[in-house]
Amino acid sequence: MKINILFSPISVDELYFTGKTSVVIDALRATTTIITALENGAKEIIPVGTVEFAVKVSGGMFGWQTLLGGERNTKKIEGFALGNSPLEYSVDIVAGKSVVLFTTNGTKAITKAKFSSELFICAYLNISAVAKHLVMLNHDLEIVCAGRSNNFSMEDSVCAGKLISEIQKLNNDLILSDSARASHSLSKSLGKNILHMMRESEHGKILIENGFEEDLKFCSKLNYSSAVPFLNGQAIKLLPDNVNSSQSALEDKTN
Ligand code: MLT
Repeated sequence: MKINILFSPISVDELYFTGKTSVVIDALRATTTIITALENGAKEIIPVGTVEFAVKVSGGMFGWQTLLGGERNTKKIEGFALGNSPLEYSVDIVAGKSVVLFTTNGTKAITKAKFSSELFICAYLNISAVAKHLVMLNHDLEIVCAGRSNNFSMEDSVCAGKLISEIQKLNNDLILSDSARASHSLSKSLGKNILHMMRESEHGKILIENGFEEDLKFCSKLNYSSAVPFLNGQAIKLLPDNVNSSQSALEDKTN
């Protein structure tokens, strides 16, 4: 299996992804939020690349059970029901809803990679579950770090390196590009204490300044979820196996 990592999607155009198997990572916080919302019973997440489009699609295209979520400069957008904190996406708020999500880097990376033949969503929360599924598929892989403002971000690159480690535990026959080797090696040093690495990262510092320190604690949880979200047309959903297990988890939470 060949693995390449893009430290930001800026270096390629949409067509680059045609026919590829991709994994998008925006650990702080968009992909963590997507995993959490789906695990808490959201019907689907519709990732969008602009606020204007978010408002447009929330107006009925996906039925009237739609919630608008997202951020600008880490803060909730005026008129939106939710921000981009995974802690906001609780069962009582999201169960059964379609969530239209706009975020500065994360949802833009997902929409850019939309021509992939398969596109999965990963964060620290679900590295092991995503790795298992990818090994089963055994396709070459593009890992897309959402990054920050078209630049490298530490938390996404370390997460990508950890995903490679998990894949390697199950399939030792990997061919890594230079960027994949660099992330893998970075994750072995800075990935030892994920929360500390996040606190020291550029985006982590901004989130703390803006009052989101609890989000860092949540986003740093390793393998807390078995959800494998994937892009199905315009919407991100859970793999069918996940739907059954998340339904029983939800029943446990609500009983
Ligand atoms: C993004 O997409 O840039 C992030 O998820 C920003 C954030 O922390 O809300």
